[in-house]
Amino acid sequence: MRIIKSVAAMQRLARGWQRAGVRVGLVPTMGYLHAGHLSLVQRARRLAGRGGKVIVSIYVNPTQFGPQEDLSRYPRDLARDVRLCRQAGVDVIFAPDNAQMYPGAGADRLSTFVIEEVLSCGMEGQSRPTHFRGVTTVVAKLFNIVQPDVAVFGAKDYQQATIVKRMVRDLNFPLKIVMAPILREADGLAMSSRNKYLVGGLRAQALVLWRTLKEARAEVRKSSRPILAARLKTELKEFIERTPAARLDYVEFFDPDTLVPVRSVERGTQMALAVFIGKTRLIDNARL
Ligand code: PAJ
Repeated sequence: MRIIKSVAAMQRLARGWQRAGVRVGLVPTMGYLHAGHLSLVQRARRLAGRGGKVIVSIYVNPTQFGPQEDLSRYPRDLARDVRLCRQAGVDVIFAPDNAQMYPGAGADRLSTFVIEEVLSCGMEGQSRPTHFRGVTTVVAKLFNIVQPDVAVFGAKDYQQATIVKRMVRDLNFPLKIVMAPILREADGLAMSSRNKYLVGGLRAQALVLWRTLKEARAEVRKSSRPILAARLKTELKEFIERTPAARLDYVEFFDPDTLVPVRSVERGTQMALAVFIGKTRLIDNARL
């Protein structure tokens, strides 16, 4: 396994593979890898096929964090990530630093962005106004650097994966985007690098996200008619805030393809929520 830190070296290698007709699968991450990330690696491995290459990018991208967010304390452990990638059969880790990714004046002074203007407005985009602009910009940069044939994203960030698909379609990036399912802990908590922040009793309380998704699913399955989204939201907010450390940021019901909010909720509706557990903001989602 190779670890590449320079953009120029990564581009050289990618160009060589492209010329040789080697299929490349990319898994973009911010590191502090867990089994959820590794499930994307396995998927990329299968998609790249025999003789194909799997690249994991590890980069905590400053332009997708808001000024009050956790950029400086986001968990990092490159040595551990390297071990996990080696065990998982990754071919290349691309781990650039800020000077490589945002040369010149740096990330704060970046003047060219890729902005998706429709799917990015609600949910995460409403709570984190510059977040998706940072995501689409860095993902476009990674696609230009690595030139993958396929890139795998997790359904854990359902809105993000949908926006990346739209960007690829709108801007003619020559690759396929695959969305892979959410991996959960045994008790249902969606795996996340930010789960590291859940110390003491917070870990148990974080289960409220999964319980809320199951509660909504049960309501929809037992109801013979569609349920008004507004009513279900009020009910679920009460349900969530019975957990002492939990404060609801948003819960939304929407069309799984267009992300347009629905007025009435039924089987097949997509649900997503963001909840603060103490100071830690967690997200989760499911198809009802
Ligand atoms: P990060 O949060 O590290 O996630 C990297 C990828 O892993 C994303 O596609 C995410 O959806 C997926 N993932 C995270 N937890 C998962 C789980 N429990 N099951 C399945 N997949 C999971 O998302 C980002 O980084 C960044 O925004 C990035 C796309 C790298 C751009 O900076």
